[in-house]
Amino acid sequence: VIAAAIVPAAGRGERLGPGGPKALRELAGLPLLVHAVRALGAARAVAEVVVVAPGDAVDEVRALMRGDTVLQSEDVRVLVVAGGRTRQESVRLGLAALGDDVDVVLVHDAARPLVPVDLVDRVVQAVRTGADAVIPVLPLADTVKRVDEAGRVDATIDRSTLRAVQTPQGFARAVLEEAHHAASTDADDEATAATDDAGLVERLGTTVHAVPGAEEAFKVTRPIDLLLAEAVLSRRRAGGARDGR
Ligand code: C5P
Repeated sequence: VIAAAIVPAAGRGERLGPGGPKALRELAGLPLLVHAVRALGAARAVAEVVVVAPGDAVDEVRALMRGDTVLQSEDVRVLVVAGGRTRQESVRLGLAALGDDVDVVLVHDAARPLVPVDLVDRVVQAVRTGADAVIPVLPLADTVKRVDEAGRVDATIDRSTLRAVQTPQGFARAVLEEAHHAASTDADDEATAATDDAGLVERLGTTVHAVPGAEEAFKVTRPIDLLLAEAVLSRRRAGGARDGR
C-alpha cells in the first residue's frame, strides 16, 4: 500500500489579514506550507506529496520545496501543481497529478502546519485496515447555537454529538476519485463546493470513520492562530512535553 498526500495551498487566506497567499505566510521564518509538507514527509507511510499552489506562485513554491534541506533529506517525492478557484477544485487538480502506484490518499490543509506525525500515521493506518474514508475529530469547547439572520437564537445544538473536523483526511484512492468526479460539476461554485473532502464522500453514501484528532493540528485562520503556532513551535524546540495531541 502506497500513500500520498495532497496539500491544497491555493487559498488567499483573507481572514488572516492582508498579505500574500496564506500558505506562504511565515511561521518562525518558514512558510506554513513548508512546515506542513515537512510534517507529512516525516511520516514513513507517505511516499509522495502533491502541493497545489496558487496559479501565480507555482514556480516560487517549486523552488521552496527544492530548496528545503529538511525535505530533501526525507524519502518523499514532492510535486507542485496549480490550484483552482475553490478548495474542492484544487484537490481535484491534485488528484489528477498522483502517481499510478498510489492507493491511499491523504488530503491535508497547508494551513495546518503543526500536524503531529502520529496523527498522520493514525489516519493512514485506519485506511490501510479497511476504512474507505477517515477524518480526525475533536470535541467542541464552545457551546454551539444556531442564530437567524436577525441575530435571534433559534436553537442550541447538543454539543455532545458534534465534532470539529481536522486534516489530514484519509481515503481509499478510488473512493476519493469517485467522490470528486461525482461533484466536479459544481466544483467551481463557491456556494456548493465542499469545505472538506469527507463531505463529498458522504454525498456518495459511503461511511466516513472518525479517529481522535490532535490539538496541534489546528488550522491557522486568524492572526491569533499564528501566535499560538509560534508558542507550540517554541515549546517543541525547547523539547517540552508534547502534550498537545
Ligand atoms: O480557506 P480555508 O482555510 O478553508 O482553506 C483551507 C485550505 O484550502 C488552505 O490550505 C487553502 O490554501 C486551500 N485552498 C485551495 N484552493 C482554494 C481555496 C483554498 O487550495 N481555491
